[in-house]
Amino acid sequence: MSAPQPPMGLLAELSHRCPLACPYCSNPLELERPRGELTAEEWLRVIDEAAELGVLQIHFSGGEPTLRRDLEQLIARAREQEVYSNLITAGVLLDRARIDALAAAGLEHVQLSIQDSRAASADTIGGYKGGHARKLEVARMVRAAGLPLTINAVVHRQNLDHLEEIVELAVELDAVRLEVAHTQYYGWAYANRAALMPSREQVEHANAVVAAAKERLKGVLTIDYVVPDYYAKRPKACMGGWGRQFLNVTPTGKVLPCHAAESITDMTFETVRERPLAAIWEDGPAFERFRGTAWMPEPCRSCERREIDFGGCRCQAFALTGDAAATDPACGKSPEHASMVGLAETESAADTRDFVYRTMGRKERAGRVD
Ligand code: SF4
Ligand code: FES
Repeated sequence: MSAPQPPMGLLAELSHRCPLACPYCSNPLELERPRGELTAEEWLRVIDEAAELGVLQIHFSGGEPTLRRDLEQLIARAREQEVYSNLITAGVLLDRARIDALAAAGLEHVQLSIQDSRAASADTIGGYKGGHARKLEVARMVRAAGLPLTINAVVHRQNLDHLEEIVELAVELDAVRLEVAHTQYYGWAYANRAALMPSREQVEHANAVVAAAKERLKGVLTIDYVVPDYYAKRPKACMGGWGRQFLNVTPTGKVLPCHAAESITDMTFETVRERPLAAIWEDGPAFERFRGTAWMPEPCRSCERREIDFGGCRCQAFALTGDAAATDPACGKSPEHASMVGLAETESAADTRDFVYRTMGRKERAGRVD
């Protein structure tokens, strides 16, 4: 088999520690402990190897990446290697001095998460009192420092009815882009689906709000929309196809084809401590397992969309069927599709706001960083 094209982007999860505790976090249920985190030296090598492999963008993420005091050093190395750097942050730990230091190191873009447009609800969802107000201040500091800003809003039953306000807030904060991402149900979100699953009506309303806002705000705000596929007929091309465009390095150095790949509990992953990034990308078993189309079962194998959506999402297929190689049940051709829609309808009718908060223990979440 010929070598795969180089990946476009690398998601560098610097730490799973985080002051927030969002119930849809894409980090694994078993969070990685601080003592195993890659050192600054190891991350610098990963950045060098990523640049050599042809990666164009590094997204510094977590958990909360600003908990790492060596973040400036890592961003500076990305700049030296001419790799675009983006910071994905909950924002609450930032102040103007740190933002200026990150910008001086070469940071090119900030992506700030919000949990809702309304403070009380946002703070409940994020499990962090005062977080929303702090995020608004930080968004203004980011713009004052001259950095472009994306607002990232994960949406679900508890905040979807405020979507118009979320759009207005992004405009007010002078964001260049708003990412509205429907919760993807694996890992923490799967555990919380009774509290998070939206109704079909909410999803249809959200689709209309986004379509209208995109039209109205042309030239003012770009809106990226990660569609919900529980009520759709065809799945999304998750990750642009497994092992095609992206790779993810976890705090302890595991190299994943997708940020949620560890939710597929029957897979193992190599680490950057064992083999160079390029070798893992090119022929690592986890990448090879679902790359291309040869692995596909029917109905995907003979479907005309197999090179368009690559059979949908492997993590969702595993969460819902126990088989990561199954056709994504979001697809109408999957034998599991009707039961998935039924499950979504039942869960969306559940009258609960009780979250299982993501946690590794408050002490560690708020812990110091080296
Ligand atoms: Fe996509 Fe497979 Fe469904 Fe075809 S059968 S639309 S390839 S998920
Ligand atoms: Fe992992 Fe879709 S989230 S492949």
